[in-house]
Amino acid sequence: MSKNKYLTGFGSHFSSEDPRCPNALPAGQNSPQQCAYGLYAEQLSGTAFTAPRTENLRTWLYRKVPSAVHKPFVQYKDCQYLNQNWDERPPNPNQLRWKPFDIPVQKPVTFVEGLHTVCGAGDTRGRHGLAVHVYMCNKSMENTAFYNSDGDFLIVPQQGVLNITTELGKMSVAPNEICVIPLGIRFAVDVEGPTRGYILEVYDNHFRIPDLGPIGANGLANPRDFKTPVAWFDDRQIVDFQIISKFQGSLFVAKQNHSAFDVVAWHGNYVPYKYDLSNFMVINSVSFDHCDPSIFTVLTCPSSRPGTAIADFVIFPPRWSVQEHTFRPPYYHRNCMSEFMGLILGRYEAKEEGFVAGGATLHSIMTPHGPDAKCYEAASKDNLRPERIAEGTQAFMFESSLSLAVTKWGEETCKKIDSQYYECWQALNNNFQLKM
Ligand SMILES: [Fe+2]
Repeated sequence: MSKNKYLTGFGSHFSSEDPRCPNALPAGQNSPQQCAYGLYAEQLSGTAFTAPRTENLRTWLYRKVPSAVHKPFVQYKDCQYLNQNWDERPPNPNQLRWKPFDIPVQKPVTFVEGLHTVCGAGDTRGRHGLAVHVYMCNKSMENTAFYNSDGDFLIVPQQGVLNITTELGKMSVAPNEICVIPLGIRFAVDVEGPTRGYILEVYDNHFRIPDLGPIGANGLANPRDFKTPVAWFDDRQIVDFQIISKFQGSLFVAKQNHSAFDVVAWHGNYVPYKYDLSNFMVINSVSFDHCDPSIFTVLTCPSSRPGTAIADFVIFPPRWSVQEHTFRPPYYHRNCMSEFMGLILGRYEAKEEGFVAGGATLHSIMTPHGPDAKCYEAASKDNLRPERIAEGTQAFMFESSLSLAVTKWGEETCKKIDSQYYECWQALNNNFQLKM
């Protein structure tokens, strides 16, 4: 799938035509009386019509059959662990760590069937909140498209490449890359074997790249490194296609006699995109002390409170560590935000053991956390010199201003909670000495 072509830029106004149908895009207008090739024009709105111009998102699709042509939706029953019931379990303020989530081996499971909700908060009907899901699958979706009516999906593959067909074209997303499929955009996922990853779903707003303030015009995730698919349409005659919709937290399925991937040309700025995390330009202290992890923010979903995110997507990439007379690992911390972490590759610097790729941790609001005893011991006595850290690793964090509840699947059914996690701090001794 590396043959896929992409348009580059973040928030750009793109135009794309499948090369099999030149001039499929109407010139000078969006909705001509008759579209070229007998196509239908359909607008996909990602923001309110009247959203300010700087935030307004919409795309015009020129497709063989309007999306409205489908049979009624009925409940979809093949995905029992995707939910938004945040009251399944009593609240749990403990430090939580999960061993790697199991990928099915015997049973064929698609991306949608393999969605499992770990934690979340808020309400899809009020359009406020988020959910953290993991997906574990081994089978491609066939003649099926999925779309989310509740929010954007930020997908973080940990194992296995996702070959994703969207209404706007195809993209291939490998571990150490991420993609965003915004609210409503239909997509299907092909996989090539055991596949696992994480999803941050946000209900309030769309993801954006953060403002840079005094950093200036360049740095962190640069806009030119985001890639959006080019137009591609399915030319097969399909009579038994199904559309799965996530709507108000539940899944529904509808049949239709045409492919959802029949968009011949499109233009607009409401698009899916992918990003290679190795393109992230890391900013950090070059003198002393430890910057807050917000310097590693790739994408943010803002709330209405200034500077306070519904969720930030933060990474901990390979980089140089040069701070003098400084305890270099992450500091001990209590936070007014929730911190869900996962590991894509390698080992995480603050906890070399126990936090394993494909697993996760959750440090909830005001739940204390920080380096384990072993890390503290080593880093507080280290001979400080410039060194490469996190080489060959990629940890990430979903940081949210919301207080997250863990689902019954996340706390019990998955059987992946590491009940010994708290022990990693127990060997931190009281070294206090009162000097007279
Ligand atoms: Fe923290």
